[in-house]
Amino acid sequence: MTELHKNTYSVPEALAKNAWIDKAKYEALYRQSIEDPEGYWAEQAKRLDWIKAPTKIKNSSLDPKSVDIRWFEDGTLNASANCLDRHLETRGDQTAIIWEGDDPSESQNITYRELHARTCQLANALKALGIGKGDVVTLYMPMIPEAAVAMLACARIGAVHSVVFGGFSPDAVAQRVIGAQSKLIITADESVRGGKQVPLKDNVDAALTRQGAEVCEKVLVVKRTGGEIDWHAGRDLWYHEQVDGQSTECVAEEMGAEDPLFILYTSGSTGAPKGMKHTTGGYLTYVSLTHQYVFDYHDGDIYWCTADVGWVTGHSYIVYGPLANGGTTLMFEGVPNYPTPGRMGEVVDKHRVNILYTAPTAIRALRAHGDDVMASSTRESLRLLGSVGEPINPEAWEWYYRVIGNSKCPVVDTWWQTENGGILIAPLPGATDLKPGSATLPLFGVRPGIVDNDGNLLEGAAEGNLVILDSWPGIARSIWGDHERFTQTYFSTYPGMYFTGDGCRRDEDGYYWITGRVDDVLNVSGHRMGTAEIESALVAHDAVAEAAVVGFPHDIKGQGIYIYVTLTEGHEPSEELQKELVKWIRTEIGPIASPDVIQWAADLPKTRSGKIMRRILRKIAANETDGLGDTSTLADPSVVDELIEHRANR
Ligand code: PRX
Repeated sequence: MTELHKNTYSVPEALAKNAWIDKAKYEALYRQSIEDPEGYWAEQAKRLDWIKAPTKIKNSSLDPKSVDIRWFEDGTLNASANCLDRHLETRGDQTAIIWEGDDPSESQNITYRELHARTCQLANALKALGIGKGDVVTLYMPMIPEAAVAMLACARIGAVHSVVFGGFSPDAVAQRVIGAQSKLIITADESVRGGKQVPLKDNVDAALTRQGAEVCEKVLVVKRTGGEIDWHAGRDLWYHEQVDGQSTECVAEEMGAEDPLFILYTSGSTGAPKGMKHTTGGYLTYVSLTHQYVFDYHDGDIYWCTADVGWVTGHSYIVYGPLANGGTTLMFEGVPNYPTPGRMGEVVDKHRVNILYTAPTAIRALRAHGDDVMASSTRESLRLLGSVGEPINPEAWEWYYRVIGNSKCPVVDTWWQTENGGILIAPLPGATDLKPGSATLPLFGVRPGIVDNDGNLLEGAAEGNLVILDSWPGIARSIWGDHERFTQTYFSTYPGMYFTGDGCRRDEDGYYWITGRVDDVLNVSGHRMGTAEIESALVAHDAVAEAAVVGFPHDIKGQGIYIYVTLTEGHEPSEELQKELVKWIRTEIGPIASPDVIQWAADLPKTRSGKIMRRILRKIAANETDGLGDTSTLADPSVVDELIEHRANR
């Protein structure tokens, strides 16, 4: 095999000429952003319309005793006005959102003027329902324009949105509604993906029967399919009935830069998902900057991020970043391979997309069909490609570049996390030579470091744990309702540094290569999940005495889910029980957590103090049983042989 990762791709000259940032500018501005963050970010804040311009730029402590992060703290603004109102005069008739339905015959272009009007109408409707500044509104929605409208309407009145991915189960919805004490849910009757309906409203009905979920008083329902749903009079309201007739003007609330804009739940290595709290001024400045520079976004570009608004990528790079920049953002309801395997390319051609931002798992799935999968499109309009969500292997990178991008579009591999608000490490297409598989260099204001397990910062070419040494405007400020957990999770492992949970290598050119999570977080098809969440769902089942969940390398998904289960007395392994447990997880968490492999285990390998040795379970799952390392500290080393002998086929 050729050593693909040794290839480099230099910046195309034509691109560098027109790019916002070329090599010399990157170097100079990066240096300035690190040496004089106050000066750099004071200037960058001007990309937004402030009601009151900030004079205090940065006020941040990462000391675990007093983590307190503030940016632009005396400034006031409104995120919705920044994404809409300020564009009306110059680009009111420009398309803000191109919506492409699951069914290829359905699409819509929504101008800034229309988006503004629709947002104001919903904002007024929300106010009429008693929602105001500081209230949390849960969105559990399909990828339809109303999802963006709902986010912007919340932002407009100072309500805090908490988007829950439409693939999550009723329990996951309930957990997040209760966690955020959300008074209202906005949902739809059903969503449509790949020709199939997902019963969103039924899921909300089920979620709201859970104890504690009665805090949610109203459910606003968008009619997407007209499918049959139950109706709870007094609680359920049709979206269109509430919105029609509302004024298309609504004065945007003046918000402090540090007022919360949204909560977004994400999985960690332990415990329940954490509601990351993102605030207004720093977040919006940061996503505006990164969207413009990383995608080298110019006026008139058609930009498509294939993520779902339920994830942070959708927040920052479908909605807030592109709209803050007055861009045209494509929102796709469906899946990349429906109704044809080449749909993604067909959508690119149909809307003349210039910038495509997608996930390695989608690329690998396409690649598995062979090059012909793209024969139904030319993709001539493309200028730039982006990747996000998981490490992209060099083979997938090269295929993306050669087949999807016709060997003429740079690939920007963007590394970041829900906690980060926006992209932290990525190439700038006019400035950075590319190495397939590397997210390359830090963006402005970002100070990555690599530490060994004792927390010593390593210099030069090195491998270890990725930390960030100082705050940047987009970083989450807290975990909703639990600042102590925020401090503990991110700033105490290596005191005074933000710990990412990722492993990383820095090469001799200073390029960063993310190697994946070093904690018990899985990344399955770019979806982040805690092994602890899946384990606690499993042990809630009568038949399960104990469960251990690990990831294993998977050609398409990046990581697959491998589960070891020991059964309670009276239960025997069977195919039925296996099916039942798969179904159980799908209902408890959602289809994204479906296990790939279940192995029945008489016992699990534990240390003498009772701790499960996951390292060994990972090796067995990956079929790397030659290098199990030291097993002498196990309470009963024979457990391992037993597990290897009965290893499940996959
Ligand atoms: O392990 C890293 C991986 O995804 C994790 C963050 O997941 P989430 O919060 O869901 O956000 C995903 C989208 C921003 C990280 O800790 N990850 C994300 N992007 C990359 C990546 N790993 C390698 N390369 C990337 N480009």
